[in-house]
Amino acid sequence: MTSDIYPVPASWADSATISAERYAADYVRSLDDADRFWLEQAERLEWFTPPSVADQSSFHEADFGVRWFADGVLNVSANCIDRHLATRGDQVAILWEPDAPDRPARRITFTELHAEVCRFANVLKAQGVRRGDRVTLYLPMIPEAAFAMLACTRIGAIHSIVFGGFSPEALAGRITDCDSRLVITADEGCRGGKCVSLKANVDAAARLITCLDTVIVVRATGGPVAMQDGRDIWYHDAAALVGGDCPPEPMNAEDPLFLLYTSGSTGAPKGVLHTTGGYLLWAAYTHACVFDCRDGDTYWCAADVGWVTGHSYIVYGPLANGVTTLMYEGVPNWPTPARMWQVVDRHQVTQLYTAPTALRALMREGDGFVMQTSRASLRLLGSVGEPINPEAWRWYHDVVGDGRCPIVDTWWQTETGGHMITPLPGATPLKPGAASFPFFGVEPALVDAAGVVLEGATEGNLVIARSWPGQMRTVWGDHARFFQTYFSAYPGVYFTGDGARRDTDGYWWITGRVDDVINVSGHRMGTAEVESALVLHRSVVEAAVVGFAHDIKGQGIYAYVTLNAGEVPTAALRKDLVAWVRAEIGPIATPDAIQFTPGLPKTRSGKIMRRILRKIAEGDFAALGDTSTLADPAVVDDLIANRVG
Ligand code: WTA
Repeated sequence: MTSDIYPVPASWADSATISAERYAADYVRSLDDADRFWLEQAERLEWFTPPSVADQSSFHEADFGVRWFADGVLNVSANCIDRHLATRGDQVAILWEPDAPDRPARRITFTELHAEVCRFANVLKAQGVRRGDRVTLYLPMIPEAAFAMLACTRIGAIHSIVFGGFSPEALAGRITDCDSRLVITADEGCRGGKCVSLKANVDAAARLITCLDTVIVVRATGGPVAMQDGRDIWYHDAAALVGGDCPPEPMNAEDPLFLLYTSGSTGAPKGVLHTTGGYLLWAAYTHACVFDCRDGDTYWCAADVGWVTGHSYIVYGPLANGVTTLMYEGVPNWPTPARMWQVVDRHQVTQLYTAPTALRALMREGDGFVMQTSRASLRLLGSVGEPINPEAWRWYHDVVGDGRCPIVDTWWQTETGGHMITPLPGATPLKPGAASFPFFGVEPALVDAAGVVLEGATEGNLVIARSWPGQMRTVWGDHARFFQTYFSAYPGVYFTGDGARRDTDGYWWITGRVDDVINVSGHRMGTAEVESALVLHRSVVEAAVVGFAHDIKGQGIYAYVTLNAGEVPTAALRKDLVAWVRAEIGPIATPDAIQFTPGLPKTRSGKIMRRILRKIAEGDFAALGDTSTLADPAVVDDLIANRVG
């Protein structure tokens, strides 16, 4: 571990909104005088009725619930668009960079965004979508994705975005779980020069379910599409039939805003529900403090809107703050590993926010691709999604940022709505790999396995001791699961599922998941999900999946598979299983290694000992720990002998 400290650059210390002194003072106030602090911050938003109450949450079973600003009334799209029309109507709101570098960029001003969103909202209304209805979005990274999101918020519908890389099976599960009648998709989505028929995936999903009755199709590429009469509608046809005026629906602060399915350690992905007031304030306030955008800035978050990072930091945070947000359709390394830096130069990007996995992949290609570009416009770099290793951090800082730009390594989760532990560029001396300090109102703590709070410089399970406005409110359709998942292991606090270390200077370092969730290229994957997909295959009787250290992806997926009696383990079957998992879940769940094994290590009560499987996947045979409780200790020798390396 490194002990290097990178001081706040003078340019930031002098000009940043939040200085070190301001952070220290406001952080204390945000905890000691929380209600007043948050009612003040709420003034950042435009309310039809401002709230008179802030936090009314409890993490205890008897009166469990998360509630903020409960008597406030507002509309998210009005905050992200209408509010800026008088002052920034002609400013670019969304700057779209297409996958193919030779196609023109699109620039949508706030005035144009207003027109697009009102029209989209009217199309939804014409299809019978009402306040509280769930609308599934399965779209590529095109401006229409943001139009559709904001259109839902304008009329009080709840959007549920499914990442375009998920398979029809995964899409179908997410559509039925929230009983969504309408899906918005596109003919095709293009990334890295390859186009995928999203519409065909929706058709395949629709064959698996019964609730879907309308599919709105955006024409993105003009690729071939089969339209089903009575169900499928071209967006441009529907848009031609509606008016352009759509007043924003007044919503209660606690009305649902969106659902986003995410993987946990058990069961199917759960629908994380965020609500209107607290979420928007959290997205806007964290975005303002952490990225510190100024007039004229072009801010680029290189995530996908299918993930929470895209929700909070491509769409809601920057637009609520009136910032030009760059939306990129493609991938970081196409057509060449210089693409990201070329996009930075082409659009004079000032803040860049991306994931360590992308940085590691680009770093491997050497510095040449970076050095052929200027990047002089950059003032700040951000990292999100997984722990950033100090080597990648230094490369980002020294090569990409020419040593000039602070790096904000932001730790947060789908459940938290926005940043929780993060440096602030004008306030925090940086340590490579440390998420550093809690954001305003965030009270992190470390507990041991028994829930005892640990003090001082130490390592433990990361919990959050009190609610914050951006916290998720429930698991869709299963409030008991919300409590069970996050509040039962350590009563009275929110359990993050992550481990962390606090050093002698009080910096927080996230060490990674301590549950059965793995982080593949910054994407969360439940080991249980991959296991369920594997056992659906007719040749498989049992499967156990663990993560292992992977140079580029952070973690890779290692699957132990036991075949049905009579099945022969062959290379062809291995290939078939990989293809099977990709079809069941999507390419992000592709196993990196499959080891066939006659049996899994189990306790006498039948519990799979994952600790041992993790060690073997890592090739760490010396530290297997106590294997005496295994029902059949000989299994371990076989596993070691046949490890896939
Ligand atoms: C991990 C993504 C270390 C962590 C925003 C968390 C991180 C999970 C960081 C949430 C970071 C995210 N440093 N680990 N800066 N950011 N993580 O829900 O394990 O897709 O629990 O949200 O990613 O993933 P999710």
